Amino acid sequence: MKITICFATLPPEPWVQAVQQAFPAAEVFAWAPGAPQADHAIVWAPPQQFIDEQSTLQALFNIGAGVDALLQLKLPPSLKVVRLDDAGMSVQMAEFVCHAVIRHFRELDAYEADVKTGRWSYRKPQSRADFAVGVMGLGVLGERVAKALQVFEFPVNGFSRSPKDLPGIRCFHGPQGLPEFLAATRVLVNLMPLTTETENILNQSTLSQLQQGGYLINVARGKHLVDEDLLALIDSGHLSGATLDVFRTEPLPAGHVFWQHPKITVTPHTSARTLREESIAQIVGKIQALQRGEPINGVVEHHRGY
Ligand code: NAP
Ligand code: GLV
Repeated sequence: MKITICFATLPPEPWVQAVQQAFPAAEVFAWAPGAPQADHAIVWAPPQQFIDEQSTLQALFNIGAGVDALLQLKLPPSLKVVRLDDAGMSVQMAEFVCHAVIRHFRELDAYEADVKTGRWSYRKPQSRADFAVGVMGLGVLGERVAKALQVFEFPVNGFSRSPKDLPGIRCFHGPQGLPEFLAATRVLVNLMPLTTETENILNQSTLSQLQQGGYLINVARGKHLVDEDLLALIDSGHLSGATLDVFRTEPLPAGHVFWQHPKITVTPHTSARTLREESIAQIVGKIQALQRGEPINGVVEHHRGY
């Protein structure tokens, strides 16, 4: 059993060592052009050359939940692509989104600014009933986020491709369900994969259907959002602001208007990090399951794009 590791943006060595330790029977090595053929690969945004050279791979394990970068490549249709299935990400995403929602709902930025100027201020509490949070994407991460928001008693709506039935969550699905979902939502949380169907889905038409004073939390991919449409809706007063963790170009270019915008909070794609130990345990477990001929979770459906 040979496992190769190919990452575009991070050093593979710590992963090579840790995978080797978790799977002593395997031969684990970092990929470089001309490397030997492997049976399985652990990857993040590999180059096309990697795919072209590694022609005997049985499965490609992505070290993230989103496979959009991987599906940009020309992949053999029979190649199994496997995404990370939580592996410690959903709790991080739940804490990040709850933090962003509560910070906005409780006006904590405004209080902080007042405190910095020595002002002991009072703001009339906002009504929780007026703060319905809509979670777009009710998959591994979205469902966990929706359930976490319920703990704080926000009304929660959910939106997905296929119908869902989640206790206490108003669920909508499909293009026909989108207008009703948006109209019922004040704070929109995006947790959909980036696909041909969802690219640019956060635009003037959709964002303007949110309730007056709406707020956007984008923690999925930058290409979901039409930046200019968000800015125009904030300028017009229809939206009150946004928390953005992901951007069309990452790192967010110096001088981009989002950096200094008073109503936009920027974080550097950090809402749910890949945790090495948890991820390796999951991937090694799946490789061993495949060796035994057992089915595994998280296999990407190429035609759906996620
Ligand atoms: P997932 O389990 O595949 O869930 C995706 C959800 O989106 C599903 O509920 C799916 O509906 C829904 N969906 C897909 N296409 C749709 C469409 N056209 N219309 C409506 N709903 C649609 O994915 P996940 O693990 O929750 O991750 C979601 C995304 O989060 C990833 O793809 C990645 O881009 C992003 N992410 C970001 C970070 C970060 O640090 N910022 C970290 C991890 C992941 P069905 O349930 O009907 O299939
Ligand atoms: C991170 O963005 C991921 O897709 O896991």
